[in-house]
Amino acid sequence: MAFLPLRQLPLSPSASVLDAWLEKLADALADNTVDRSLVCRTTLCEIAYPAYASNWETAIEDSGLPLGTRVGLLALDPRNVTLEPEYYAECDDVRFQKVKPLLWLWYSFDRTVMGGQNVDAGVRLRRMLAPLIFKRCGRNFKAFQHVEFSFGYNLEVGDDVVIHRHVLLDDRGGILLGNKVSVSDYANIYSHTHSIVDQREVTNVQTVIEDGVRITYHATVLAGVHAGTQGMIGAMAVATKNVRPYHVNVGIPAKSITVKPNAPTPSDILSTSQRVAHEK
Ligand SMILES: CC(C)(COP(=O)(O)OP(=O)(O)OC[C@H]1O[C@@H](n2cnc3c(N)ncnc32)[C@H](O)[C@@H]1OP(=O)(O)O)[C@@H](O)C(=O)NCCC(=O)NCCS
Repeated sequence: MAFLPLRQLPLSPSASVLDAWLEKLADALADNTVDRSLVCRTTLCEIAYPAYASNWETAIEDSGLPLGTRVGLLALDPRNVTLEPEYYAECDDVRFQKVKPLLWLWYSFDRTVMGGQNVDAGVRLRRMLAPLIFKRCGRNFKAFQHVEFSFGYNLEVGDDVVIHRHVLLDDRGGILLGNKVSVSDYANIYSHTHSIVDQREVTNVQTVIEDGVRITYHATVLAGVHAGTQGMIGAMAVATKNVRPYHVNVGIPAKSITVKPNAPTPSDILSTSQRVAHEK
């Protein structure tokens, strides 16, 4: 295998415009007196429907405009859309309504010409939004396009975490991602499950992914799984049970095929929960 660290790219000639846009948005989000639904709507309108950015209120009432344009304009405001978690019985409305405009901005930005695969702008925007949505977000958080959450507010994220494209982080029962966790493309991490008899019976249980764990492409982690420090879940695996520290688990259901050669002796390995207990 070759050692291929990421390259640094030169700044684009118009980088200052993006800097100014991000700064303006950061200021608006930092101001507690500003309605975040309005921030979301204005931000999206400027990108997606610039002709209506200064007259959104009159445009949505204008019967001379095509209905599709009017519903499109309405949908820029999170108060005019419903998100799936709002239908969940245990949704904490006070907490969810606070983060909903930010989730809607995150998801909708990814579907604009400015978002999607535009790495620099996307990573910087999501790094700004994440600490305002999550229960906790560490340093250098990096998320690529089309990441989805359930509540968002039940997610705890350590430092230097990377979430790749099209990942689902279902934090209904809570997800804890330790430091330097990497979640690869199209992976799913769940924290809720349904009774096999009556799907309305739901069990919410926290899923814990400890420091340095890599969940690789298209893998699925089921609710309540605890992946130990530096563990790895292989491509397409379904982790139904805990993953031991430094173990590489693959397959359906995922089982250990090997222990990483850099694993310390078993007594050197303390899980996050053990460490927390020790530090108390
Ligand atoms: C988990 C993984 C790293 C294992 O790689 P490895 O240690 O080199 O394992 P090997 O290729 O030596 O395979 C060992 C055995 O496990 C099997 N195996 C490996 N990966 C598997 C997988 N994802 N699912 C099922 N079986 C797998 C192999 O077929 C082999 O079986 P055999 O002994 O019967 O022939 C690799 O499969 C994987 O999933 N890579 C994902 C790529 C990645 O790193 N993504 C993150 C990028 S951000």
